[in-house]
Formats: sequence, C-alpha cells, structure tokens
Amino acid sequence: MIRIENLSKIYSDGTVALKNISFQIARGEFITVLGKSGAGKSTLLRCINRLVQPSSGKVYISGEEVLGNNPKQLKKMRRKMGMIFQNYNLVKESSVLTNVLAGRLGYLSSGASLLGRWSENDIQSALGHLSDLGLAEKSHSPAGTLSGGQSQRVGIARALMQEPEIILADEPVASLDPETARSIMEILRDINQKKGTTLICNLHQPALAEEFGTRTLILENGELIPDEKRKNL
Ligand SMILES: Nc1ncnc2c1ncn2[C@@H]1O[C@H](COP(=O)(O)OP(=O)(O)O)[C@@H](O)[C@H]1O
Ligand SMILES: [Mg+2]
Repeated sequence: MIRIENLSKIYSDGTVALKNISFQIARGEFITVLGKSGAGKSTLLRCINRLVQPSSGKVYISGEEVLGNNPKQLKKMRRKMGMIFQNYNLVKESSVLTNVLAGRLGYLSSGASLLGRWSENDIQSALGHLSDLGLAEKSHSPAGTLSGGQSQRVGIARALMQEPEIILADEPVASLDPETARSIMEILRDINQKKGTTLICNLHQPALAEEFGTRTLILENGELIPDEKRKNL
C-alpha cells in the first residue's frame, strides 16, 4: 500500500529531520509511529502526502511513485489520504457541518469549491458521519464552541468525507485528557477495522502506541529503530 525507500529530509536551515528511512505498510495496517518531540514524526507524515518535499528517496502509494512536480497526480494522491491534526485545524467561525464538508474540497472543481456548492449527497454524507460520531446536534454550531474531543471528532468526520484509503494522523490525541484520548483512538481503530482504512498515527505515548498499533515504528533523531534494537529500549 505504502512503500518508503531511502527517504531523507534536510530542511533549508540544515536540520536533518529524516535519515534514510525505508519501510512498507500493507493495506489495512494500523501503524503507530512513536518518538519524542523532534524525532521526525511530522516530517515523515508530511513527506508521504508531500506537504514537505523530501530531500531524497521515494514514496510509493499502491505501487505508484508520488511525484512532487505533477499537480494533477498530487491532487489525486492527496484525495486518497485523509489528514488529522493535533490542533484539529478547524475553521472556528464556521459551522461544524461546513468544516466537515471541507473534506470534499479535493473532489470539487475550483469554481464550485469557491462558491461552497455542496451537493445534497455530500451534505447527507457529512450529516451521517456527524451522527455516527455522536455530533448530530452540533452540526450547526460554530466549530469554535466545541470541546477538544468533539473538535477531533469533527476532524475525523472531515477526513472521512474524502473516503480516504489512508488516514495520516499527526498526534491526534496530544491535546486531550487521557480518557478522551482513548475514545479518539478507539474511533480510529473502529474505522481501521470496519472500513479497512490504512492508518498511520504519530504518538508520543508508548502505551497508546503499543495498544492500538497493529505494528509500531520507532523514530529517534530521524532514524527508524530496527526491530532487533528495540528490545533494549
Ligand atoms: N520547517 C522546518 N524547518 C526547519 N526545521 C524543521 C522544520 N520542521 C521541523 N523541523 C525540525 O526537524 C526535526 C523533526 O521535526 P518534526 O518532524 O516536527 O518532529 P516531531 O513531529 O517528531 O516532533 C526537528 O529538529 C524540527 O525542529
Ligand atoms: Mg510533530
């Protein structure tokens, strides 16, 4: 599903964020990526959807190399990948429903997206996701009025609107209390198990990474720790 070959990232100020990373992920895996702050977790996710341009190395999705210089291919690739953020990235003044519909933007022509012309299908689908996530009665509230856990559920609903094959979650529970964090991880596991969506989830809590990941990758100073060394950690 995802193949990473010799991926390195050196930022323009000389910071080496990723050092020659290679791994593969099969369809339907729930990969947790564990590492301290600064280990390179966000850079890794962003190299996968090309929010960050790798310095060297290759990323393949379903056998097709992701090319940074082909806007048409990039749009198609990014549609397959839903992204979930630590700080939710919601437009606080807009309604919950509008925030969720934003997940469809990659499917609209630029004219239709500027006008916010959503099809009835999209609206029904957004309301369906909100209802599944226990947020039906919040659909018309401004997103800024929600709690952290509710905001992240909106973030998840927005990602689901893309009908993604892959969900990239960058520390989705780092701003939440432990109980809410677990409930969000359980929602992600449910999506993984019921829809077969491939998940890559950055975390800094080892216990959550072990519990929820079907496999855990460990990043340290931009390097992937090989399995045989992990026993000593
Ligand atoms: N845009 C950037 N420019 C320069 N350095 C960056 C940039 N983004 C991240 N870094 C650096 O790259 C390293 C890895 O960062 P990051 O991928 O954000 O790690 P993590 O998500 O594990 O905390 C850190 O040293 C960080 O300071
Ligand atoms: Mg990060």
